[in-house]
Amino acid sequence: MKTSAQQLLFAEEPVALAPTRRHESLTFKANLSLGRHGWLRLTPAYSRHLVEEIVRPLGKRDRVLDPFCGAGTTALTCAEHGIRADTVDINPFLVWLANAKFTAYETSHIEEAKAFPSALRLAGSNGNLWHPPLHDIEKWWHPRDLHALSALFAAIKDAEVSQPARNLLISAFCRVAIETSAVSFGHQSMSFKPRNGEDGMVDMHGPANLKGLFIKRLHEVLDAARTPLDGSLAHAYLGDSRRLHEVLSGKYTRVITSPPYPNRMSYIRELRPYMYWLGYLSDGRQAGDLDWQAIGGTWGCATSNLTRWRPDPAAPIPFDGFLDMIGRIAQRSSILSQYVHKYFEDCVRHFRSLARVLAKGAAVHYIVGNSKFYDVMVHTELIYAQLLREHGFANVTVENIRKRNSKKELFEFVVSARFSTSSAR
Ligand SMILES: C[S@@+](CC[C@H](N)C(=O)[O-])C[C@H]1O[C@@H](n2cnc3c(N)ncnc32)[C@H](O)[C@@H]1O
Repeated sequence: MKTSAQQLLFAEEPVALAPTRRHESLTFKANLSLGRHGWLRLTPAYSRHLVEEIVRPLGKRDRVLDPFCGAGTTALTCAEHGIRADTVDINPFLVWLANAKFTAYETSHIEEAKAFPSALRLAGSNGNLWHPPLHDIEKWWHPRDLHALSALFAAIKDAEVSQPARNLLISAFCRVAIETSAVSFGHQSMSFKPRNGEDGMVDMHGPANLKGLFIKRLHEVLDAARTPLDGSLAHAYLGDSRRLHEVLSGKYTRVITSPPYPNRMSYIRELRPYMYWLGYLSDGRQAGDLDWQAIGGTWGCATSNLTRWRPDPAAPIPFDGFLDMIGRIAQRSSILSQYVHKYFEDCVRHFRSLARVLAKGAAVHYIVGNSKFYDVMVHTELIYAQLLREHGFANVTVENIRKRNSKKELFEFVVSARFSTSSAR
């Protein structure tokens, strides 16, 4: 039974995709129990199942690209299936995480990491331990937990272990840091759990429990790290998907990806705690700058930068009715109209750049979500379909794969196409 959103869709020659799909099996939730995929939660990650459907028929000659790496789901799934894959992200923490997941760990790395907790003392360490310069850090962790986390982090930093072993320890640390925080991931982005308790905070763990939790999470990380994986197959690169040729060489035969949606979700906001602990951020200004570089970022100074942003006449959005849609959003909020306009201008830059790194005949699959600002629908999937046509792609199809749980008109789609330079306009 087709939904009304599906009736909007059109197909020329469909690129094969099995018509399965339903809800949880398509989101990050399905990854949490899947070995390396479950190391850290990234809310907008899609599931391994979705990638597997596309990857299964591929062979050794294929080279897959994911220009929006996130938690690395695409490239890790490819490597698990013996397929080569490269992935790019603008966020250095996500690049580190992905490469940690793609590593073939040797027994010696696992043994080093396994031995680490035996000498670990989190209680009674002296007062002046470093903790990240997060604004309002007392909203994140109870002081006792924060102190124990600081002691754990210092011990990991100082441990005499190899870098792969340290990466395993840091992965387990990140999980403990987020589990002991007062952050709730109950919806699309994060929020703080309500405060209670006499001093307004809940002491959730304390040093002994925190060490116990760390050991548990470390064992899970190590179990996943023991799974054999060819470490030469997947690589994550720090780069900008609007300038892919600067970091990639080679011609890719498939793209499987999920770019940010035009929905004002900030990855930096969600990832801040990890990024501050691991030294990828040291102040709020940097966080805002990084979000401004990301497509669809609106955190901190990214929002004020938007007020000064002006469309580039050399990068028009080739979609009938686009300016009318932007105008209707502007009637309610000029900053939101700037946001949507810039988002699609960045998509145009991405597709221009993508065309430089694809093999002729390459198939691409973009998982995207539509949005609604006030009463104005933004049909992201249809705009992507048109942008693909304009950038040398043919056989464009749009498939509605799931309803998102927030507003009733919001869906997720796979927009697929084949690269055929001859169709470039
Ligand atoms: C929806 S998430 C990808 C989720 C991924 N499919 C997964 O399963 O984890 C989009 C990603 O695009 C990244 N991103 C945003 N702007 C970018 C840019 N200009 N270049 C490269 N990556 C970018 C964000 O940092 C984020 O990790």
